[in-house]
Amino acid sequence: MRATETLKAEHRGIRRALAVLEALAAQADGGEAPRSGDAEALVEFFTVFADGCHHAKEERILFPELATRGLAAGQGPVDLLLEQHAEGRRLVGRLRRELPALDADPAARRRFAAAAHEYAALLEEHIALEDDVLFPDADGVLDAEADGRIAAAFDRHEELEMGAGVHERFHRMLDDLGAKYAGGKTHGKVMK
Ligand SMILES: [Fe+2]
Repeated sequence: MRATETLKAEHRGIRRALAVLEALAAQADGGEAPRSGDAEALVEFFTVFADGCHHAKEERILFPELATRGLAAGQGPVDLLLEQHAEGRRLVGRLRRELPALDADPAARRRFAAAAHEYAALLEEHIALEDDVLFPDADGVLDAEADGRIAAAFDRHEELEMGAGVHERFHRMLDDLGAKYAGGKTHGKVMK
């Protein structure tokens, strides 16, 4: 699989999680407390998988490689993509801050829902920019040798960052939460 195909597959996993987050935020907007542990599990997914695994692969491995091939920061969308990663981290921080009070405090539920909507909109825009603009450009400048090197570095990063079995655990979690909140629409192994 090409390096960009791996990242696109991960985007599909992240979008499954965003569908669940939006459903959970809609409940919170309606005054309902999320079922115990579900919001925590999603925030863990966005922290460990979306940011620690996926965004880090882009920032530490793909973007630097592209910079050596004429797609440096300041040329094309890389600067904006990096800003969006930083904004995403801030929004996940806002989600995490509300977790302890979600059960008891309607104001915390409203703040959680507001941050969730902002985060989902940001990541949908971000993923479209990568899938439709950056990755086709990247495919045009990466030869097979560079692509293989990036894919091997992705595997090493995932092993170090998440450890064995964590990717699979997230798959199961998204299947479970998808069935509960998004009518099973998110079912299916799509991350990798
Ligand atoms: Fe991405």
